[in-house]
Amino acid sequence: MSAATVRLAPSLLAADLGRLKEQLAVVEEGGADWLHVDVMDGVFVPNLTFGAKVIETCRALTTLPLDVHLMVVEPEKYFDSFAKAGASVLTIHAEVAPHLHRQLANIRELGCKAGAVVNPGTPVESLRDVAGDLDLLLIMSVNPGFGGQKFIPSSLAKIARARAMLAEARSTAALEVDGGVTRQTIHGCWRAGADTFVAGVAVFGAKDPAAEIRALRAACAEQA
Ligand code: DX5
Ligand code: ZN
Repeated sequence: MSAATVRLAPSLLAADLGRLKEQLAVVEEGGADWLHVDVMDGVFVPNLTFGAKVIETCRALTTLPLDVHLMVVEPEKYFDSFAKAGASVLTIHAEVAPHLHRQLANIRELGCKAGAVVNPGTPVESLRDVAGDLDLLLIMSVNPGFGGQKFIPSSLAKIARARAMLAEARSTAALEVDGGVTRQTIHGCWRAGADTFVAGVAVFGAKDPAAEIRALRAACAEQA
C-alpha cells in the first residue's frame, strides 16, 4: 500500500456543532476523505449523540461520504432511516449483532456500504466468517463512548491480524481504526495494515484542521 491510499475520516463528535457548516467545509477543503459520524444510544455506550436528522443535515452540507458508526443496540432499527438520510457506510458492532451476516446484507440492500466493528475486548476473529461480506472492518482502539481517549497499544497486533484475515478472504474491505489516532499513533496503525483512520480531537481540536489532516497523512509515509 502506498501513502496515497491513506483515508482520513475526521469525527463529527469533536467538531464545534455551533459552527457545523464551517467545520465541515474546513475538513472537506482540507482533504478529508470521509466524515465519521458517531451514533450513540446511551445503552450500548454511556453517551448520547446523533440521529437521522443530523445525518441528513451533514448530507446537505458536505459531499464527503458519511461513515456512520452505530454504537447502539438493535442497530437494524435505524438502517432504513439512516440510509434515507444519506449515510454512505453503516458500521455495526459485532457485540450487538447476533445475525451479522443478515444485517450486513440488509445494509447493502439499502444501497449503503456495510461495515462491522469490534470493541477492544472482542476478538477480530469473530468476524472471520463474514470477512467476504464486509466493505469495511473497523477496529476500536479505545472503548467506545467518548472522544479524546488514549490509544490502546494492543490494537496494533489486532490490526495486523485483521489485515491477514482480510487478505485470506481476498477481501478488499477498508480496514479502519477508531480512537486515539494522532500524529504519534497513526504510523504504527498504518504499518500494521490499516488504511482508514478516524480522528476526532486530533483534527477538530487542532488550530488548523487542514494542516493536521496533511500531517496525519504524512505521518503514515514516514520511515519508522
Ligand atoms: C469513540 C468514537 C470515536 C471518537 C474518536 O467512541 O467512536 O469515533 O470520535 O475520537 P478521538 O479521535 O478523539 O479519539
Ligand atoms: Zn467512531
